[in-house]
Amino acid sequence: MTAHALNQSSPLAPDWLAVPADLNALHPPMWAAGVERNDDGELALDGIPVSALKEQFGTPLFVMSESDFRARARSFKDAFDEAFADICGGVDVYYAGKSFLCTAVATWVAEEGLRLDTCSGGELAVAARAGIDGANLGLHGNNKSDAEISRALDMRLGRIVVDSLDELERVAKIASGRGETAKVMLRLTPGVHAHTHEFIATAHEDQKFGLSMAEDSTEQSGLSAAEEAVAAATSYPGIELLGLHCHIGSQIFEPDGFALAAEKLLGFLAEMQVKYSIQLPELDLGGGYGIAYTPVDTPRPAAEIAQAMAAVVRSKCAELGISAPRISIEPGRAIVGTSTFTLYEVGTLKTVRVDAPANGDAESAGENVTHPRRYVSVDGGMSDNARPVLYDADYSAILASRTSAAAPQLSRVVGKHCESGDIVVRDVYLPEDVAAGDLLAVPGTGAYCWALSSNYNYLARPGVVAVRDGSVRLIVRGETEEDLLNRDMGV
Ligand code: LLP
Repeated sequence: MTAHALNQSSPLAPDWLAVPADLNALHPPMWAAGVERNDDGELALDGIPVSALKEQFGTPLFVMSESDFRARARSFKDAFDEAFADICGGVDVYYAGKSFLCTAVATWVAEEGLRLDTCSGGELAVAARAGIDGANLGLHGNNKSDAEISRALDMRLGRIVVDSLDELERVAKIASGRGETAKVMLRLTPGVHAHTHEFIATAHEDQKFGLSMAEDSTEQSGLSAAEEAVAAATSYPGIELLGLHCHIGSQIFEPDGFALAAEKLLGFLAEMQVKYSIQLPELDLGGGYGIAYTPVDTPRPAAEIAQAMAAVVRSKCAELGISAPRISIEPGRAIVGTSTFTLYEVGTLKTVRVDAPANGDAESAGENVTHPRRYVSVDGGMSDNARPVLYDADYSAILASRTSAAAPQLSRVVGKHCESGDIVVRDVYLPEDVAAGDLLAVPGTGAYCWALSSNYNYLARPGVVAVRDGSVRLIVRGETEEDLLNRDMGV
């Protein structure tokens, strides 16, 4: 086949995937600041080449830029503080620990002036180990155990985000049993669901999270579950009701959905303040800000989203005649996602021929036209990145250990698991000469990859290294075979 033929886009590629003009070039929105090709053509972070990382730590490996993480954390805090300065004096940014958490990261979060959102006793344990002040912690979850609630009270958490009427009663009981008061936010479902470019609004919610704002959502009273919770919270001696919370979804690019949710919650907040003669001083608008996984993803800068949200909060509060509550947000992915890439070593390669997708033209309808798809196997897979399997998530990949002048070839990067759905990158153009022993880098793997990792097929979970100012350190050790066998109690 000629190079010319190989430079054409493959009919097997999805419409959004363009053949890159230069296969060696990095698309900056997908990469942490400090990632570039060095003079030898190798991918390097802060000057540390991937070959050195592989030699010291092995592969697969999560490679995180600490500076990038810190910069994104700061940029959210600064952008929202600035946009909301005249509205409520600034914004409390809770980093969503579920996206990626370890002691080092919890420490960076605190050092950059952010707070930390947790959703389990385990995440609270990490926060405690990092020495985070309980006042700067929140606890989420639709099924918190009594032990987790007690732990939150032990640690004097700044807020417990209560998810249901059932839980509200339990928190009240546990707190008053201890002669204490729990600081509580109520998680409401405003009927706004955002997904990347669009959002949908529904009256009723059919999901496990949150208290519905639909008017007839409780059978007994005919009130909304949200209102019933406000009424109950104000009557329980063990509860200090701080305010309201919502989280409308993830990987959202446009601010419209956040704005609509903010309007709905502010309207409800104003109504409750009058009806129950209370003050609700806080409103949390959740996380969900999108990042670039592929060249077609176009995230907005934090400042743009912050300003759009501030404009809505400002005008809605004026319309309602209320003073604005203190706003908080909970970004996870937008802080950690792009800070990290996964480094893999290429193993087995195979090319299959695939029938052209039917597109109605004579060529594909008539004859048996096939096209090549190359499978590039790497030494990890769905155990270190479950997102393609779980959510059909798209990623990208680049040849990292060298440059190549070879023609682009439509490739599918797959893992080493015993499962045909074990895909890391469904569709990507890689140089035709990619070979066993090459290193591949998959960008944007900081959020919900290590966090969702597993030991499927008894693979050891990879370690995480952090690079800052040209030096590298292990922040989570990779598992060993001994770790894998440790909990097996034997015969
Ligand atoms: N706040 C709450 C209440 C949440 O449930 C979440 C995410 C966040 C904040 C942070 O959202 P972020 O800014 O990271 O999008 N595993 C899925 C995403 C699950 C999100 C769960 N909640 C994924 O990998 O796409």
